[in-house]
Amino acid sequence: MDMFVVRGGRPLRGRVTVSGAKNAALPIMAAALAANGTTVLHGVPDLVDVTTLSQVLRSLGMFVERRPDNSLALTAVDEQRCLADYELVRRMRASVCVLGPLLGRRGRACVSLPGGCNIGHRPIDLHLKGLRALGAQITIDRGYVFARADRLIGTDIYLGGSFGSTVTGTCNVLCAAVFAEGVTTISAAACEPEVVDLGRYLNAMGARIEGLGTPLLRIEGVHSLAAVEHTVIPDRIEAATLLIAATMAGGRLQVDNVDAQHLAAVIDVLRMVGVGIEIRDRTVIVTAPDRIRSLDITALPYPGIPTDVQAQLTALLSTAEGISVVTDKVFPDRFMHIPELMRMGANVRREGASSIISGVKTLSGACVMASDLRASAALLLAALAADGESVIRRVYHLDRGYERLEQKLNQVGADITRVADLPETMPNSLQLSEAEQQPLAVDASDVPPPKFLSKGEFDRYRTPQ
Ligand code: EPU
Repeated sequence: MDMFVVRGGRPLRGRVTVSGAKNAALPIMAAALAANGTTVLHGVPDLVDVTTLSQVLRSLGMFVERRPDNSLALTAVDEQRCLADYELVRRMRASVCVLGPLLGRRGRACVSLPGGCNIGHRPIDLHLKGLRALGAQITIDRGYVFARADRLIGTDIYLGGSFGSTVTGTCNVLCAAVFAEGVTTISAAACEPEVVDLGRYLNAMGARIEGLGTPLLRIEGVHSLAAVEHTVIPDRIEAATLLIAATMAGGRLQVDNVDAQHLAAVIDVLRMVGVGIEIRDRTVIVTAPDRIRSLDITALPYPGIPTDVQAQLTALLSTAEGISVVTDKVFPDRFMHIPELMRMGANVRREGASSIISGVKTLSGACVMASDLRASAALLLAALAADGESVIRRVYHLDRGYERLEQKLNQVGADITRVADLPETMPNSLQLSEAEQQPLAVDASDVPPPKFLSKGEFDRYRTPQ
């Protein structure tokens, strides 16, 4: 396991390039299961999640190869297989994206339920509802989803849930519906750019999907899909993370390979808190102000502020002048980063699906623990801004979803070192002065007993036994 040692307080200056979008690449790779021939994908980031899905696809009879030009080639060589095993699926929830393509193309699928998740409750009931509506027979047994359909029939499907639309649920239902007889409509479909990218890829293969980017999709079924070459869209979450990094660390950063439209909500937030943003074609230039203003924000499905940037924005607002409220309406429990940010001096109080942040002028370096992908990014951003040295443990979460992030940041002025997280390599990040190391000059007999303990009970606790 690796950890980062980050020396904060170094402004970022120069240019960085955003990689292809993880959350577009994963469902598109899964959809390649449904293609005739060899699919070639450009812009697939080199990430642990991509490696994990490649393993899942290989176990499903696909030949998956990273070519010298960095494209990813995928060919189905054994279409009899239909089992996505727990050992692989539990490592990455997005493995569930194989369900729709397998069912649509191979008529059956046996996919492990993904299990628990650090960002909150993540059921797949809507995925199953949509596939059942198309005529699939689905049972859950021994932790697996067993799905079967000799034929799928087009129908009208409402895919909204209590927390809005579902991104990978829309992907799964879409990938099955392209093979359904007749016309399918999906209302309350997810409008995220990653779903649109999947839809464009399917259409390039011969699918007939209309309404991409809107909540109402109309799909006319086809018999087969012919493999194509496709370039994955830039990662809007990585782009947002880099813009926030430069804002927090200070400086002026040019971020290339950005679709600014996909980032409209985040750019609006940054401008509202006082950040300088200049948009030029596929580039965004960010100029950090001395100190940002506070703001109340809510993470919502697209085109709202993405939940995948909520943690990073929380880190940012923890240094704002004034009080901010951050609410997450997509994952109302996605707040594992807060206690760790508080170790760095942030002043945050959780209230249900919101956090109330009283901005501090500076954060201080500390040893913190990453709990999930975007929480790791938030801690890294806080460490870039903090006074002194921070240690971020469990950065394997970050490696799941960001391609060479620390290298990209180091190239523009950050000071991040990756080291093995072993007790002997653990730097002493807390360096106390001699005076601070003196025991507190308090005589224990001066301490009054707490109200709920009698004097006798208190003495028993106080006296070492
Ligand atoms: N939901 C249901 N039932 C379902 C599916 C979802 O109630 O069947 C609820 C979820 O519990 C959640 C909300 O609907 O409250 C949205 O979940 P969604 O299904 O949209 O999430 P997802 O498809 O599992 C994708 C991304 C996440 C991202 C969310 C929201 C991929 C591979 N993952 O997950 O990305 O946070 O959409 O935008 O696309 C990340 O990259 O760090 C990440 C977690």
